[in-house]
Amino acid sequence: MPGSMPNSESSHLDDEPVVITETPEWAALRGHQKHLAGTSLRALFAADPGRAEALSAEADGLYLDYSKNLLTAETVRLLIALAERAGLAARIEAMFNGEKINTTERRAVLHVALRAPEGEPVLVDGGDGVPVDVVPEVHRVLAKMYAFADRVRSGVWTGATGQHIRTVVNIGIGGSDLGPAMAAEALRTFADRSIDSRFVSNVDGSDIWEATHDLDPARTLFIVSSKTFTTLETIANAKAARHWLVAALGEQAVPHHFVAVSTNAQKVAEFGIDTANMFEFWDWVGGRYSMDSAIGLSLAVAIGPDNFRNLLAGFHAMDAHFRTAPLDRNLPVLLGLIGLWYRDFFGLQTHAVLPYSHYLSRFPAYLQQLDMESNGKSVDRAGRPVTTATGPIVWGTPGTNGQHAYYQLLHQGTTVIPADFIGFVAPPHAAVGGTGAADQHVLLMANFFAQTEALAFGKTAEEVAAEGVAPELVPHKVFTGDRPTNTLLAPELSPFILGQLIALYEHKVFTQGTIWGINSFDQWGVELGKVLAGRIIPELAAADEPELGHDASTNALIRRFRAGFGT
Ligand code: F6P
Repeated sequence: MPGSMPNSESSHLDDEPVVITETPEWAALRGHQKHLAGTSLRALFAADPGRAEALSAEADGLYLDYSKNLLTAETVRLLIALAERAGLAARIEAMFNGEKINTTERRAVLHVALRAPEGEPVLVDGGDGVPVDVVPEVHRVLAKMYAFADRVRSGVWTGATGQHIRTVVNIGIGGSDLGPAMAAEALRTFADRSIDSRFVSNVDGSDIWEATHDLDPARTLFIVSSKTFTTLETIANAKAARHWLVAALGEQAVPHHFVAVSTNAQKVAEFGIDTANMFEFWDWVGGRYSMDSAIGLSLAVAIGPDNFRNLLAGFHAMDAHFRTAPLDRNLPVLLGLIGLWYRDFFGLQTHAVLPYSHYLSRFPAYLQQLDMESNGKSVDRAGRPVTTATGPIVWGTPGTNGQHAYYQLLHQGTTVIPADFIGFVAPPHAAVGGTGAADQHVLLMANFFAQTEALAFGKTAEEVAAEGVAPELVPHKVFTGDRPTNTLLAPELSPFILGQLIALYEHKVFTQGTIWGINSFDQWGVELGKVLAGRIIPELAAADEPELGHDASTNALIRRFRAGFGT
């Protein structure tokens, strides 16, 4: 990842993206979509025996089959022309070169530097226009994380009474929670099972209560993770945890049981955490892009430094692929273009992510923040209303559970839901009580392959009738097919492959944001609710009856709450 001089001139809000809907490439895709309408996946596959091979790509063992989509090689060619028109290649280079592409916050966007190997410089404007290589700093913090993780895992780090740590509780929310929580579950088979990992995020006191009520304070370590160290939920939970610990072990125990991950040393010190036990990251790491920074500390403790290194290697492999692979073989670009095809040219609003691994149960929730906080935008980088649909609603749960819940709608509902199916060749661990796990993996993966086949090709009325189904039941048993899916098939769910998968979706989001001309790296949309909550808190807690200045609905709801609360 060779560095080059960051261009501070690009930090201005006069960054005016092309109005993509006014380009000939957009018009060509509109025409092409009309031309394609009426064809079916059955017809497309029948017409081209090489379709599955042609419409697939691979990056370091991670295989993408996108042939079961409502598109042809010509569609891909036209979508790539659109990406080129939007300047995707130049935007990729701008990101990797540390330009301040997060224009509304005047920040570089350099999560790719978090996994850059030592010796591969990544340059950022040091504040005075002078470029600084951030990679040595990244590796200094990684070394500190690894040393800490080793100390906790080996029992060198003890609690105030000299006992080993048996539970690590990460307190954080959003990007300071979802990544490590998702990955700790995904990589459970790589974890030291003698140390339990728990995650507390919700300001609802039930979360911290449930996480702590059965724990021994003397054997519990809290990692308070917050980029800003001002987030209401995290600070409230951290204070509750501190109170719980001090009640059992006294004030002097705090430094033995609390460490912090943050960019804000002052606030960490004010909270009473020794800044020697603070793990830094930087303003050029966005919250939802931070799980491979020190925000992953709880994960590093759980899976150990070697596995964490492999996770970063997977991220980096996908970064290198994204930066160098031709666009028509580039997995993040292809996923981004296909998603945009459905969002903008078919008007489809949602996108399902369906991992066929129980360990990836939190992956869709992780992607919700990554995608929806990044691309849930209505104005372009210059502040003009967008002329396209932007980010989809992302959702999903692990297979096969969804098959017995909502897949009915996927197969026969009146809306089409494009979906990513994610599966693994090898089972994650040995059998439960014999050879069962391998057998169960076959059952799981048979369902995985069956679902995308059924969604794509369906079942015609003729086929249903030929099975002897009563005529009045035939319409109920018809499957229209043409329900599009991507299949991601990887050898196994390893740290390396998890890193690849996460980076794949990060860069998919970036690809789409670039074509939509939006800033995928700010999140002003979360501010208004925060400000209003700050105004309402004292109104709920006040002993007197403060005058309420909200709308009639909000005023009445607050009065109703106040009348019942605490009585
Ligand atoms: O939801 C807004 C947000 O700023 C996210 O982007 C971020 O991941 C989360 O809050 C937590 O922020 P912090 O790490 O500063 O506590």
